[in-house]
Amino acid sequence: MSGRIPDTFIDELLARIDIVDVIQERVQLKKAGRDWSARCPFHDERSPSFTVSPNKQFYHCFGCGAHGSAIGFLMNYDRLEFPDAVEELANRAGLKVPFEGGKAAPREDSSELYELLDAATGYYRRQLAASTSALDYFQRRGLDDAIVARFRLGYAPDAWDGLKSALGTNAQRIALLDKAGMFSGGERGSKYDRFRDRVMFPILDRRGRTIAFGGRILTQPAAKSAATDAGQASSAADPGPTTTDARKNDPGPKYLNSPETPLFHKGRELFGLWQVREAHAKIPRLIVVEGYMDVISLHQAGITQAVATLGTATTRDHAEILFRQCSDVYFCFDGDRAGRQAAWRALESVLPRMRDGRQALFLFLPDGEDPDSLVRKEGLAGFEQRLKDATPLSEFLFGDLAKDVNLATLDGKARLAERARPLLAHIPDGAFRDLMFEELERRSGAKTLPAKVASADAGKGDRASVRPPQRSLVRAAITLLVQQPGLASTIEPPWQFASLRQRGVALLVELIELGRARPELTTGALLEHFADRAEINALQTLAVSEFPGDVDAARSEFADAMRQLERQTRHQRIEDLQARLGEGGLGEDEKDELRGLLASRSQTPR
Ligand code: UTP
Ligand code: MN
Repeated sequence: MSGRIPDTFIDELLARIDIVDVIQERVQLKKAGRDWSARCPFHDERSPSFTVSPNKQFYHCFGCGAHGSAIGFLMNYDRLEFPDAVEELANRAGLKVPFEGGKAAPREDSSELYELLDAATGYYRRQLAASTSALDYFQRRGLDDAIVARFRLGYAPDAWDGLKSALGTNAQRIALLDKAGMFSGGERGSKYDRFRDRVMFPILDRRGRTIAFGGRILTQPAAKSAATDAGQASSAADPGPTTTDARKNDPGPKYLNSPETPLFHKGRELFGLWQVREAHAKIPRLIVVEGYMDVISLHQAGITQAVATLGTATTRDHAEILFRQCSDVYFCFDGDRAGRQAAWRALESVLPRMRDGRQALFLFLPDGEDPDSLVRKEGLAGFEQRLKDATPLSEFLFGDLAKDVNLATLDGKARLAERARPLLAHIPDGAFRDLMFEELERRSGAKTLPAKVASADAGKGDRASVRPPQRSLVRAAITLLVQQPGLASTIEPPWQFASLRQRGVALLVELIELGRARPELTTGALLEHFADRAEINALQTLAVSEFPGDVDAARSEFADAMRQLERQTRHQRIEDLQARLGEGGLGEDEKDELRGLLASRSQTPR
């Protein structure tokens, strides 16, 4: 996600602001030695274990493990997306966020768009108050005034130019409304209101601003199944005002959504998320359902953690947004074939996001029911029970893969392994991934599974290591660099240890190169570079691990680690050459090299 904003800008930004200021504005900090501390804003605690380090430009809670840079803090505390957190910080630093590819930030005239869409929300709400048929509709669906207000529901009147004449008071505003997706038509004919005679569901962004709408007809469509293909239904051609009476009476699809606009990307938005955040200081879980009415009914019934995707499958972006809010996410689907397919797509989107501590569960509803109808029928307790009985991701995954497979046969087991492996390979490194591979091993009986194929710090040559890998040394060097990236400038190339066959060496080299290229880098900024990488968890742990604090000690420790690594590299080279010498495979140069190495070894004290 950080791809579009250049790394160099992130570095500059983090160098300009002070994490202490950013956090101080939101959390009362007390000076504690070199650092600042407070009671952790991310979990309940009596004594302060939340620490902010001005040197590292990094915060960390020793109680719950929360940690990160100023960007990460804003993402967690203000619950912003990465680009929004960057923008927020850039504003305070007086910087303009550049976007790669020379494009300007997509928010050029967006403040006017937001204002107009909020005005549209107000307009629809006023129209609702004046429409008995729309008020009746919500009443029939069992919504009370409070929930109608909380979701800012409204009504688009049965007119071609209701919104257009109310808000489109000049050409510029009409152009903006059009850009926001509020009109249909155009080309040669003129533009007219996209939403007519529909109850309106505003879609809010993470700051509570309207960015799009969904609109529903007031009647029950004749054939329910005909309107369920959301994408198709929503893009059905609008007949427009000039067509014949017969087509004019066609109410169109049951639900109509705004098209994609500069503000609205349906693959990244979740209906109801704003209301969930409003209801919870700390979101305990999220429940993903399919429809607007499902979300609203659940909230009204007291399940204030329901959100919906907007007539699309759950995307990877959705999955990341969901898990950024909380660690337990439930996915609700119809129990029929289409529902199972949708659930499977959700599972595929979720797998790459399954970092340790995250949990995905699947809930399949009885035939013909949706969460709205169920919670009305069975009440809060009934729905809660269904959530309790939800299927964990692992069970759904293995159950589904094995459903047409006979696990009593070798063939069947092999087939299960073959199907599961590529899926499991998407799970990020960690205990959950290991457990899933173990589970596959248990179910399929297949012994040697490449559990570590894409594993992050499996060094390139670790299978060839002659001696037990000296992990602690590489790890110590990495730790020092993460805590004080500036140490990278204290050594001069060339260094030989890049060829050392030990876990983590590639990462160490990368950190050294990064630290040398960006001398101003702090711990917090360094971690931002690795935000999307599998190594991030390990690096974050190292960033907060205890280490002799003072700068000079770290310097000499780092120098010492570098010297030892160089010596190990020479030793490795000696062993390689000696092994080939035994097979008679050394050239004259290599023999010289070996003699030189052996001589220098006997001179250096061990
Ligand atoms: P459903 O057809 O299951 O509707 O569509 P629902 O939410 O139960 O609606 P009610 O109870 O009849 O009012 C589920 C979701 O699919 C999208 C909408 O987001 C809807 O909430 N959808 C559906 C469309 O985008 N267009 C359609 O024509 C139908
Ligand atoms: Mn419904």
